Amino acid sequence: MRKPVIAGNWKMYKLLGEAVETALALKPLVANSTHCDVVIAPVFTALKTVADRLEGSNIKVAAQDCAVQNEFGAQTGEVAPVMIRDAGCSHVIIGHSERRQFFGETNESVNKKTKAALSAGLAVIVCVGESLSERESGNAESVVKSQLFGGLAGLTVSDLERIIIAYEPVWAIGTGKTATPEQAQEMHGFIRRVLAETHGAEAADSMRILYGGSVKPDNIASLMNNEDVDGALVGGASLEAGSFSRIVNYK
Ligand code: PGA
Repeated sequence: MRKPVIAGNWKMYKLLGEAVETALALKPLVANSTHCDVVIAPVFTALKTVADRLEGSNIKVAAQDCAVQNEFGAQTGEVAPVMIRDAGCSHVIIGHSERRQFFGETNESVNKKTKAALSAGLAVIVCVGESLSERESGNAESVVKSQLFGGLAGLTVSDLERIIIAYEPVWAIGTGKTATPEQAQEMHGFIRRVLAETHGAEAADSMRILYGGSVKPDNIASLMNNEDVDGALVGGASLEAGSFSRIVNYK
C-alpha cells in the first residue's frame, strides 16, 4: 500500500510571521491525519523557523528548489541541499514547471539537483508535466516520459524509495482548470508504466505519484479516488490552513 502525500507549495508567498502563523494554525488541524504524509514548502527564508516551530508534529517541511551540489563554493544565491537539510527540512521540490519556464531548469539540472538532494538525505518531489500546446499536439506522454528519463537518469531502485513524482500539467497550474480524474489517472498510469520500464515493476508499484494543478477541497476526493493518484501537490489552496487541512483530510 502506498501512503498518500499531500504537499503544499507556498511558492513566493508569505513573510516570515505569516508563514509561522499558517504553519501553527495547520498543526492541530492535521494532527490526526495519519492516513497521509503532510508536507509544506515555505520560501527559503522561512524554512528554519517554520521547521523549528513544527518540530515534533507530523508536518514535514520542504524547500522549493536547491543547488546542483552539496560542496560549498562560490555559487552566489544558491542553497545546497545539505543546507536545506541543516535548516530542518526533510523534502525538496525539484523541477517545478515555474522553474522550468522562468528560471532555465532543464531535465539535466533536475537530475543533478535530485542526486545532490538524495545524497544530502532529503526526499525529493520531482515535478513533471506538459504544457497546453504539448497536450493539444498529442505530445503530453512523450514530454512527460523524457522528463522522467532525464530527471531520474542514473538513479537506482533504492534511490527511488526517496523520490516522489508530482504530475502537474502546466495548463492546470493556478488556472482553476483541474485535469479531470480520468486525465489524471491516464497520465499517472502512464508514469507508473514508464517507471516500471526503467526501474522494474516492484519499484514502480511503491512510488507515490502526486497530482498537482488547481487542487481544491472540493475536487481532491475525486482525484484521490483513482488507483494511481497517491496524493497532491497543492499551490493556491495550500496558503490557508483551513483549506489545506480540508484537502489533507479529504477522506
Ligand atoms: P495550484 O499550483 O494548486 O495553485 O494550481 C500547484 C503547483 O504549482 O504546485
